[in-house]
Amino acid sequence: MNDASSRPTLVTTVDQLRRAVAAARADGRSIGLAPTMGALHEGHLSLVRASKAECGVTVVSIFVNPSQFGPGEDLAAYPRDLDADLDKLAECGADLVFAPDNEEMYGEGHATWVDVGSVARPLEGECRPTHFRGVATVVLKLLNMVGPDRAYFGEKDYQQARVIRRMVADLDVPTVIRVCPIVREADGLAMSSRNAYLDVDARRQAAILWKSLCLADELVSQGERDPRTIVRRMREMIESAEDARLDYVALVDPDTLEPIERIEGPVLAALAVRIGATRLIDNRLLKM
Ligand code: PAJ
Repeated sequence: MNDASSRPTLVTTVDQLRRAVAAARADGRSIGLAPTMGALHEGHLSLVRASKAECGVTVVSIFVNPSQFGPGEDLAAYPRDLDADLDKLAECGADLVFAPDNEEMYGEGHATWVDVGSVARPLEGECRPTHFRGVATVVLKLLNMVGPDRAYFGEKDYQQARVIRRMVADLDVPTVIRVCPIVREADGLAMSSRNAYLDVDARRQAAILWKSLCLADELVSQGERDPRTIVRRMREMIESAEDARLDYVALVDPDTLEPIERIEGPVLAALAVRIGATRLIDNRLLKM
Protein backbone atom coordinates (compact mmCIF):
# COMPACT_ATOMS: atom_id res chain seq x y z
CA MET A 1 0.00 0.00 0.00
CA ASN A 2 1.21 3.48 -0.95
CA ASP A 3 1.15 5.74 2.11
CA ALA A 4 2.31 8.94 0.45
CA SER A 5 4.84 10.60 -1.80
CA SER A 6 6.09 7.56 -3.74
CA ARG A 7 4.64 7.48 -7.23
CA PRO A 8 1.88 4.95 -7.88
CA THR A 9 2.60 1.95 -10.11
CA LEU A 10 1.74 2.85 -13.71
CA VAL A 11 0.20 0.22 -16.00
CA THR A 12 -1.02 0.74 -19.55
CA THR A 13 -2.46 -2.65 -20.56
CA VAL A 14 -5.50 -4.55 -19.29
CA ASP A 15 -3.31 -7.59 -18.75
CA GLN A 16 -0.90 -5.70 -16.44
CA LEU A 17 -3.86 -4.12 -14.66
CA ARG A 18 -5.57 -7.45 -14.00
CA ARG A 19 -2.31 -8.95 -12.69
CA ALA A 20 -1.68 -6.03 -10.31
CA VAL A 21 -5.27 -6.13 -9.01
CA ALA A 22 -5.12 -9.93 -8.58
CA ALA A 23 -1.93 -9.58 -6.51
CA ALA A 24 -3.66 -7.05 -4.22
CA ARG A 25 -6.70 -9.35 -3.91
CA ALA A 26 -4.43 -12.28 -3.06
CA ASP A 27 -3.11 -10.15 -0.18
CA GLY A 28 -6.69 -9.82 1.05
CA ARG A 29 -7.02 -6.14 0.16
CA SER A 30 -10.23 -4.46 -0.96
CA ILE A 31 -10.09 -2.42 -4.19
CA GLY A 32 -11.31 1.14 -4.84
CA LEU A 33 -11.47 2.69 -8.32
CA ALA A 34 -11.60 6.39 -9.24
CA PRO A 35 -12.16 6.76 -13.01
CA THR A 36 -10.85 10.05 -14.48
CA MET A 37 -9.82 11.70 -17.73
CA GLY A 38 -6.70 13.19 -16.11
CA ALA A 39 -5.61 16.85 -15.81
CA LEU A 40 -6.23 16.14 -12.15
CA HIS A 41 -7.35 18.74 -9.61
CA GLU A 42 -8.59 18.71 -6.01
CA GLY A 43 -12.02 17.43 -7.14
CA HIS A 44 -10.42 14.26 -8.53
CA LEU A 45 -8.08 13.97 -5.55
CA SER A 46 -11.06 14.07 -3.16
CA LEU A 47 -12.27 10.83 -4.80
CA VAL A 48 -8.84 9.27 -4.34
CA ARG A 49 -8.82 10.27 -0.68
CA ALA A 50 -12.32 8.85 -0.17
CA SER A 51 -11.15 5.57 -1.69
CA LYS A 52 -7.98 5.55 0.42
CA ALA A 53 -10.11 5.96 3.55
CA GLU A 54 -12.25 2.90 2.71
CA CYS A 55 -10.20 0.56 0.52
CA GLY A 56 -6.93 -1.34 0.85
CA VAL A 57 -5.76 -0.47 -2.65
CA THR A 58 -6.78 2.58 -4.71
CA VAL A 59 -6.73 2.39 -8.50
CA VAL A 60 -7.05 5.56 -10.59
CA SER A 61 -7.78 5.32 -14.31
CA ILE A 62 -6.70 8.13 -16.61
CA PHE A 63 -8.21 7.90 -20.07
CA VAL A 64 -9.59 10.68 -22.25
CA ASN A 65 -12.47 8.65 -23.62
CA PRO A 66 -13.11 9.60 -27.28
CA SER A 67 -16.56 7.98 -27.38
CA GLN A 68 -18.05 10.44 -24.89
CA PHE A 69 -17.08 13.48 -26.99
CA GLY A 70 -19.41 14.55 -29.79
CA PRO A 71 -18.31 15.89 -33.18
CA GLY A 72 -16.95 19.44 -32.79
CA GLU A 73 -16.35 19.02 -29.04
CA ASP A 74 -12.98 19.49 -27.29
CA LEU A 75 -11.48 15.96 -27.56
CA ALA A 76 -8.27 17.14 -29.30
CA ALA A 77 -7.82 20.16 -27.00
CA TYR A 78 -8.61 18.29 -23.76
CA PRO A 79 -5.71 18.93 -21.32
CA ARG A 80 -3.32 15.98 -20.88
CA ASP A 81 -0.38 15.89 -18.43
CA LEU A 82 0.32 12.37 -17.15
CA ASP A 83 3.55 13.37 -15.43
CA ALA A 84 1.91 16.09 -13.32
CA ASP A 85 -1.01 13.73 -12.60
CA LEU A 86 1.34 11.04 -11.26
CA ASP A 87 2.95 13.60 -8.91
CA LYS A 88 -0.45 14.64 -7.55
CA LEU A 89 -1.48 11.01 -7.14
CA ALA A 90 1.78 10.27 -5.30
CA GLU A 91 0.94 13.02 -2.84
CA CYS A 92 -2.43 11.54 -1.96
CA GLY A 93 -1.17 7.97 -1.91
CA ALA A 94 -2.90 6.33 -4.91
CA ASP A 95 -1.49 2.83 -5.43
CA LEU A 96 -2.08 1.97 -9.08
CA VAL A 97 -2.69 4.09 -12.19
CA PHE A 98 -4.20 2.62 -15.34
CA ALA A 99 -3.51 4.85 -18.36
CA PRO A 100 -4.35 2.89 -21.51
CA ASP A 101 -4.21 4.22 -25.08
CA ASN A 102 -7.22 4.19 -27.41
CA GLU A 103 -6.27 0.86 -29.01
CA GLU A 104 -6.02 -0.84 -25.62
CA MET A 105 -9.43 0.47 -24.57
CA TYR A 106 -11.31 0.03 -27.84
CA GLY A 107 -10.01 -2.99 -29.72
CA GLU A 108 -10.43 -3.53 -33.44
CA GLY A 109 -14.12 -3.97 -34.28
CA HIS A 110 -15.50 -2.66 -30.97
CA ALA A 111 -19.28 -2.62 -31.49
CA THR A 112 -21.05 -2.91 -28.12
CA TRP A 113 -22.53 0.15 -26.44
CA VAL A 114 -24.39 0.69 -23.18
CA ASP A 115 -27.57 2.78 -23.47
CA VAL A 116 -28.89 3.69 -20.04
CA GLY A 117 -32.40 4.96 -20.88
CA SER A 118 -34.51 7.71 -19.35
CA VAL A 119 -32.10 9.16 -16.79
CA ALA A 120 -29.57 9.75 -19.60
CA ARG A 121 -32.03 11.61 -21.85
CA PRO A 122 -32.66 15.12 -20.37
CA LEU A 123 -30.17 17.92 -19.55
CA GLU A 124 -26.69 16.82 -20.76
CA GLY A 125 -28.29 14.01 -22.77
CA GLU A 126 -30.29 16.50 -24.77
CA CYS A 127 -27.31 18.78 -25.51
CA ARG A 128 -24.85 15.91 -26.06
CA PRO A 129 -26.90 13.00 -27.48
CA THR A 130 -24.12 10.37 -27.60
CA HIS A 131 -22.30 11.49 -24.44
CA PHE A 132 -23.76 9.10 -21.84
CA ARG A 133 -23.54 6.12 -24.17
CA GLY A 134 -19.78 6.75 -24.28
CA VAL A 135 -19.55 7.34 -20.52
CA ALA A 136 -21.59 4.26 -19.57
CA THR A 137 -19.65 2.03 -21.96
CA VAL A 138 -16.20 3.11 -20.78
CA VAL A 139 -17.19 2.99 -17.10
CA LEU A 140 -18.63 -0.53 -17.48
CA LYS A 141 -15.42 -1.59 -19.24
CA LEU A 142 -13.31 -0.12 -16.40
CA LEU A 143 -15.48 -1.82 -13.77
CA ASN A 144 -15.07 -5.12 -15.62
CA MET A 145 -11.31 -4.66 -15.98
CA VAL A 146 -10.68 -3.73 -12.33
CA GLY A 147 -13.53 -5.48 -10.52
CA PRO A 148 -13.45 -2.94 -7.65
CA ASP A 149 -15.40 -3.26 -4.39
CA ARG A 150 -16.21 0.44 -4.60
CA ALA A 151 -16.01 3.06 -7.34
CA TYR A 152 -15.90 6.80 -6.68
CA PHE A 153 -17.59 9.55 -8.69
CA GLY A 154 -18.21 13.27 -8.12
CA GLU A 155 -21.51 15.06 -7.61
CA LYS A 156 -20.13 17.71 -9.98
CA ASP A 157 -21.37 15.43 -12.77
CA TYR A 158 -24.65 14.70 -11.01
CA GLN A 159 -26.41 13.20 -14.03
CA GLN A 160 -23.38 11.03 -14.85
CA ALA A 161 -23.50 9.59 -11.31
CA ARG A 162 -27.24 8.86 -11.74
CA VAL A 163 -26.55 7.15 -15.07
CA ILE A 164 -23.82 5.00 -13.53
CA ARG A 165 -25.94 4.02 -10.54
CA ARG A 166 -28.75 3.00 -12.91
CA MET A 167 -26.38 0.96 -15.09
CA VAL A 168 -24.74 -0.81 -12.14
CA ALA A 169 -28.16 -1.72 -10.70
CA ASP A 170 -29.60 -2.85 -14.04
CA LEU A 171 -26.58 -4.89 -15.16
CA ASP A 172 -25.83 -6.47 -11.75
CA VAL A 173 -22.35 -5.01 -11.43
CA PRO A 174 -21.04 -6.06 -7.98
CA THR A 175 -19.48 -2.67 -7.16
CA VAL A 176 -20.73 -0.13 -4.62
CA ILE A 177 -20.98 3.35 -6.17
CA ARG A 178 -19.94 6.25 -3.96
CA VAL A 179 -20.71 9.83 -4.94
CA CYS A 180 -18.56 12.55 -3.35
CA PRO A 181 -19.37 16.27 -2.81
CA ILE A 182 -18.36 18.97 -5.30
CA VAL A 183 -15.00 20.61 -4.58
CA ARG A 184 -15.08 24.34 -5.40
CA GLU A 185 -12.67 27.24 -5.86
CA ALA A 186 -12.77 30.14 -3.37
CA ASP A 187 -15.37 32.02 -5.48
CA GLY A 188 -17.57 28.92 -5.76
CA LEU A 189 -16.60 27.81 -9.29
CA ALA A 190 -16.69 24.00 -9.36
CA MET A 191 -13.23 22.61 -10.07
CA SER A 192 -12.99 21.16 -13.57
CA SER A 193 -10.21 20.22 -15.96
CA ARG A 194 -11.97 22.51 -18.45
CA ASN A 195 -11.41 25.56 -16.21
CA ALA A 196 -7.89 25.57 -17.72
CA TYR A 197 -9.47 26.88 -20.96
CA LEU A 198 -10.64 30.10 -19.25
CA ASP A 199 -8.61 33.30 -19.65
CA VAL A 200 -8.60 35.81 -16.78
CA ASP A 201 -11.74 37.59 -17.93
CA ALA A 202 -13.68 34.39 -18.66
CA ARG A 203 -12.54 32.94 -15.33
CA ARG A 204 -14.00 35.97 -13.54
CA GLN A 205 -17.30 35.60 -15.40
CA ALA A 206 -17.46 31.85 -14.69
CA ALA A 207 -18.36 32.57 -11.05
CA ILE A 208 -21.87 33.37 -12.34
CA LEU A 209 -22.76 29.64 -12.41
CA TRP A 210 -22.34 29.26 -8.65
CA LYS A 211 -23.87 32.70 -7.99
CA SER A 212 -27.01 31.69 -9.86
CA LEU A 213 -27.23 28.39 -7.92
CA CYS A 214 -26.96 30.37 -4.69
CA LEU A 215 -29.74 32.68 -5.89
CA ALA A 216 -31.94 29.63 -6.53
CA ASP A 217 -31.20 28.31 -3.06
CA GLU A 218 -32.03 31.68 -1.52
CA LEU A 219 -35.33 31.96 -3.39
CA VAL A 220 -36.40 28.49 -2.26
CA SER A 221 -35.51 29.21 1.35
CA GLN A 222 -37.49 32.47 1.13
CA GLY A 223 -40.55 30.39 0.17
CA GLU A 224 -40.61 30.54 -3.63
CA ARG A 225 -42.28 27.34 -4.88
CA ASP A 226 -42.66 28.01 -8.61
CA PRO A 227 -39.70 26.55 -10.56
CA ARG A 228 -40.44 28.85 -13.53
CA THR A 229 -39.81 31.95 -11.41
CA ILE A 230 -36.52 30.55 -10.13
CA VAL A 231 -35.35 29.49 -13.61
CA ARG A 232 -36.22 32.95 -14.98
CA ARG A 233 -34.25 34.71 -12.22
CA MET A 234 -31.25 32.40 -12.76
CA ARG A 235 -31.37 32.94 -16.52
CA GLU A 236 -31.45 36.74 -16.07
CA MET A 237 -28.47 36.60 -13.74
CA ILE A 238 -26.41 34.37 -16.06
CA GLU A 239 -27.21 36.46 -19.11
CA SER A 240 -25.89 39.52 -17.28
CA ALA A 241 -22.34 38.14 -17.71
CA GLU A 242 -21.29 39.48 -21.11
CA ASP A 243 -19.75 36.32 -22.58
CA ALA A 244 -22.13 33.80 -20.98
CA ARG A 245 -24.49 31.78 -23.18
CA LEU A 246 -26.94 29.42 -21.50
CA ASP A 247 -27.25 25.84 -22.80
CA TYR A 248 -29.86 25.00 -20.17
CA VAL A 249 -30.95 25.75 -16.64
CA ALA A 250 -33.51 23.45 -15.07
CA LEU A 251 -35.09 22.51 -11.75
CA VAL A 252 -35.61 18.76 -11.77
CA ASP A 253 -36.48 15.81 -9.56
CA PRO A 254 -33.14 14.68 -8.04
CA ASP A 255 -33.94 11.00 -8.75
CA THR A 256 -35.57 10.96 -12.18
CA LEU A 257 -34.11 14.26 -13.48
CA GLU A 258 -37.56 15.05 -14.89
CA PRO A 259 -38.74 18.68 -14.70
CA ILE A 260 -40.92 19.49 -11.69
CA GLU A 261 -44.11 21.55 -11.69
CA ARG A 262 -43.95 22.77 -8.11
CA ILE A 263 -41.35 22.66 -5.35
CA GLU A 264 -42.62 20.28 -2.68
CA GLY A 265 -39.37 18.67 -1.51
CA PRO A 266 -35.68 18.54 -2.43
CA VAL A 267 -35.04 19.68 -6.00
CA LEU A 268 -31.91 19.74 -8.14
CA ALA A 269 -30.93 22.93 -9.94
CA ALA A 270 -28.69 22.01 -12.89
CA LEU A 271 -27.15 24.19 -15.55
CA ALA A 272 -24.75 24.27 -18.48
CA VAL A 273 -23.26 27.58 -19.57
CA ARG A 274 -20.78 28.53 -22.26
CA ILE A 275 -18.34 31.26 -21.31
CA GLY A 276 -16.91 32.12 -24.71
CA ALA A 277 -15.91 28.73 -26.16
CA THR A 278 -15.75 26.92 -22.81
CA ARG A 279 -18.75 24.84 -21.73
CA LEU A 280 -19.17 24.50 -17.96
CA ILE A 281 -21.74 22.56 -15.91
CA ASP A 282 -22.74 22.78 -12.27
CA ASN A 283 -25.60 21.82 -9.98
CA ARG A 284 -26.91 22.22 -6.45
CA LEU A 285 -29.47 20.36 -4.41
CA LEU A 286 -32.01 22.89 -3.11
CA LYS A 287 -33.71 22.16 0.15
CA MET A 288 -36.92 23.75 1.43
P1 PAJ B 1 -13.49 13.66 -15.27
O1 PAJ B 1 -14.19 14.86 -15.77
O2 PAJ B 1 -12.00 13.60 -15.30
O3 PAJ B 1 -13.96 13.44 -13.79
C1 PAJ B 1 -13.60 12.28 -13.07
C2 PAJ B 1 -14.41 12.23 -11.79
O4 PAJ B 1 -14.09 13.35 -10.98
C3 PAJ B 1 -15.94 12.28 -12.05
O5 PAJ B 1 -16.60 11.35 -11.21
C4 PAJ B 1 -16.26 13.70 -11.69
O6 PAJ B 1 -17.61 13.90 -11.29
C5 PAJ B 1 -15.30 13.97 -10.56
N1 PAJ B 1 -15.08 15.41 -10.39
C6 PAJ B 1 -14.71 16.30 -11.34
N2 PAJ B 1 -14.68 17.55 -10.82
C7 PAJ B 1 -15.05 17.45 -9.53
C8 PAJ B 1 -15.22 18.39 -8.46
N3 PAJ B 1 -15.01 19.68 -8.63
N4 PAJ B 1 -15.60 17.91 -7.25
C9 PAJ B 1 -15.83 16.58 -7.06
N5 PAJ B 1 -15.70 15.66 -8.03
C10 PAJ B 1 -15.31 16.08 -9.24
O7 PAJ B 1 -16.18 12.37 -15.43
C11 PAJ B 1 -15.29 11.94 -16.15
O8 PAJ B 1 -13.98 12.34 -16.06
C12 PAJ B 1 -15.54 10.86 -17.20
O9 PAJ B 1 -16.84 11.01 -17.70
C13 PAJ B 1 -15.31 9.42 -16.68
C14 PAJ B 1 -16.27 9.07 -15.53
C15 PAJ B 1 -13.87 9.24 -16.23
C16 PAJ B 1 -15.58 8.42 -17.85
O10 PAJ B 1 -14.76 8.69 -18.93
